[in-house]
Amino acid sequence: MIKVAPSILSADFANLGSEVKALEQAGADMIHIDVMDGCFVPNLTIGSIVIDKIRLSTKLPFDVHLMINKPEDSIHDYIKAGSDIITIHPESTIHLDRVISIIKDAGLKAGIALLPTTNPSIIDYLMDKLDLILVMSVNPGYAGQKFIRNQLEKIKIISTKIKESNRDIILSVDGGIDEFTAKESIAAGCDLLVSGSFIFKSKDYGNQIQRLKY
Ligand code: DX5
Ligand code: ZN
Repeated sequence: MIKVAPSILSADFANLGSEVKALEQAGADMIHIDVMDGCFVPNLTIGSIVIDKIRLSTKLPFDVHLMINKPEDSIHDYIKAGSDIITIHPESTIHLDRVISIIKDAGLKAGIALLPTTNPSIIDYLMDKLDLILVMSVNPGYAGQKFIRNQLEKIKIISTKIKESNRDIILSVDGGIDEFTAKESIAAGCDLLVSGSFIFKSKDYGNQIQRLKY
């Protein structure tokens, strides 16, 4: 069953509460929240205080994608803010296993996000802890970029690793997802599609979400 997590990076930031409500009504499976620190990536978005506030507007799970350096310094704030899944980048911390363990010990789901150049072997010694693996099909930082096609091969490699692990790990893709790249990503083994500009370019979020699924 393919799931869709709209990225609120492309939502109206002045009305985030009503945007997440509209996404829930439109049939979104979870809300993807891009946290950018202007340092790990060249853009600055929102932090745990805003997440805590929009938590009141929907019951949908929050899939929080941290694009911040040293996530260990603020991870407890993101846990307390009501995140359901927290995904971090291996390049953002020296102690990847430790930060993943903090997320898991708090009872949340933990994910790892791979840059387009990150080797998929990075997951090998984390498979027993991971709940989600996010393949970045653009360089993180901005919405509306072009899908990097060689990531389809990485999705296939990771899909095989997940099957071999016999664990229930979500394989997600993020960046440049439209109705065409969604189909290719699903065929390669993805089960969660993150999409920003494609969903928000129309007022009919429900129709856009359905177009990604089929
Ligand atoms: C990029 C973010 C994505 C972004 C996707 O750094 O991680 O979640 O919002 O936007 P689109 O779907 O427009 O590529
Ligand atoms: Zn993201």
